[in-house]
Amino acid sequence: MELQFKRHRRLRTSASMRALVRENHLIAEDFIYPLFIYEGENIRNEVSSMPGVFQVSMDHLQAEMEDIVKHGIKSVLLFGIPATKDECGQQAYHDHGIVQVATRFIKEKFPEIIVVADTCLCEYTSHGHCGVVEGEKILNDQSLELLVKTAVAQAKAGADIIAPSNMMDGFVAAIRVGLDEAGFEEVPIMSYAVKYSSAFYGPFREAAEGAPQFGDRKTYQMDPANRMEAFREAESDVAEGADFLIIKPGMPYLDIVRDIKNTFNLPVVVYNVSGEYSMIKAAAANGWIDEKNTVLEMLIGMKRAGADLIITYAAKDAIRWLKEEV
Ligand code: PBG
Repeated sequence: MELQFKRHRRLRTSASMRALVRENHLIAEDFIYPLFIYEGENIRNEVSSMPGVFQVSMDHLQAEMEDIVKHGIKSVLLFGIPATKDECGQQAYHDHGIVQVATRFIKEKFPEIIVVADTCLCEYTSHGHCGVVEGEKILNDQSLELLVKTAVAQAKAGADIIAPSNMMDGFVAAIRVGLDEAGFEEVPIMSYAVKYSSAFYGPFREAAEGAPQFGDRKTYQMDPANRMEAFREAESDVAEGADFLIIKPGMPYLDIVRDIKNTFNLPVVVYNVSGEYSMIKAAAANGWIDEKNTVLEMLIGMKRAGADLIITYAAKDAIRWLKEEV
């Protein structure tokens, strides 16, 4: 009997043939690059658990931004490390809070760069939680008020996009009303709609100096075992007026990325978080893994899963490597 089978390898015979049938591509516009702005002077600290990622003070921001522009990055996501913290995280919403100062600077000097402001309290509160604390409880509705103040302060400073990451219920609705009332109806909300309580945030908490001082974030961030819950979270954020949906972390949650992409008609953003970045850095430093090919495979995997945008610390490297490929 004649042997019958498909010759899939016909489409893989050469680099040109593979390029011809390639289904997904990475471009500079895909990436949002996180920046850690440190209140103080003359600070450019490499985060020990995140090689290649720096906390920078305002006097180093010009040089950092020039480097970002030179790489071809189009958007940045700002996190602040304030000089002082308190129970209510006042530096998050003060007009002279570090993210507001950095936003004004970037929008004045680099107006074409999209500034996304992370709207959360954990870097600003003494207890390191993302909301108002009473005893051991994180209060939902009281936290919303402070988050709205933060979002409005960020928009006032010129932020192009507000990205609330705090996981309080109703944060999109509250922030949308707050922004509209303050005259910022044109400022979109990029909601961390689906944010899991993840061990992969470990290195970030060193970078942002925002680790919780007691307990954990499990009463507001999601259980990694759950899928239906992701639909519920995304549904409510869409109903409340979100303009983008973030899924976070990336790699262990690409099934959820595909689910959300197939279900909602909003741009889907994947947060390729600190732990995902640091694992590859550490393995590469040991000579166990090829950094360039691993990072590019991770990022194209996110696009294939349905990401329209990727927040990643590897943006500079990725763009440089993509240019080498051409
Ligand atoms: C703040 C926030 C966190 C991250 C982004 N925003 C930490 C957390 O929720 O504990 C993590 C990002 C990363 O790991 O790269 N709420």
